[in-house]
Amino acid sequence: MDSDDLTRVHREFLKDSIRLRFDFSTTAQSRGEPPPPAQKPHPAGARTVALPGPELFGGLGAASLLSLLKRRRSVRRFTEEPFSLTELAFLLWATQGVTSRPGPAVTLRTVPSAGARHAFETYLYCHRVEGLEQGIWRYLPLEHRLLFEFAEPGLAARLSAACLGQRFVAQGAATFFWSVLPARMEWRYGPAAHRVLPLDAGHVCQNLYLAAEAIGAGVCAVGAYDQLALDALLRLDGEDEFVLYLAPAGKKAE
Ligand SMILES: Cc1cc2nc3c(=O)[nH]c(=O)nc-3n(C[C@H](O)[C@H](O)[C@H](O)COP(=O)(O)O)c2cc1C
Repeated sequence: MDSDDLTRVHREFLKDSIRLRFDFSTTAQSRGEPPPPAQKPHPAGARTVALPGPELFGGLGAASLLSLLKRRRSVRRFTEEPFSLTELAFLLWATQGVTSRPGPAVTLRTVPSAGARHAFETYLYCHRVEGLEQGIWRYLPLEHRLLFEFAEPGLAARLSAACLGQRFVAQGAATFFWSVLPARMEWRYGPAAHRVLPLDAGHVCQNLYLAAEAIGAGVCAVGAYDQLALDALLRLDGEDEFVLYLAPAGKKAE
């Protein structure tokens, strides 16, 4: 396929015309299959840390929405100041926090999602977070806890390399990596799922920008990375789960 053909295919992909070509009565949901879990399972007894809940965020969200919107910019230079656990919890809750559970497999969160499918997991490279070991953690939105995934030497350098040499990606207090589990969205929308997944991701990252601004921190959305290298680094299979988007966050350097 030459680049003109590829461009045409990709433009077509952006359109919701897929609805006219796809028979929704054939989706897993229409066939009566149970939905995939709203959160990737983890072994019983795994190491987790409880996070401060929204009742403790009162002091963090005092700035007006107007001023946050006016000030928001992508930030690539961070201070050495760590995030407190409450600040990190606030950012996680703002991006994926569960605010209602209308059914056993349905969550409503601080961000919208097509069909309320919420097909993302949030991995964190915790670099400077008070009380947390440096390494890769995963947010458990249903429990509002952090799950320790792994630590290994040289993570920061390897993460930067996997992001095509963008060093700032590992220089904040914490880096957010949003993986997608397409099956959660495909269950309802079949091949129409893939158009809405990046739309969902935009909401998540925008909430991170605004919540970070509220605590004097900055964020930079990152969409350029080596897919194979980053999936391998985060120990994702690259097929049923892979990285879609990422953003480092940290206190802003003047
Ligand atoms: C989808 C997306 C992908 C991006 N990818 C990168 C990236 O890989 N590296 C980078 O330095 N900035 C990246 N950015 C940040 C943009 O460069 C930035 O938003 C733009 O320059 C406008 O600046 P502002 O966010 O301060 O308004 C990305 C932004 C978006 C929305």
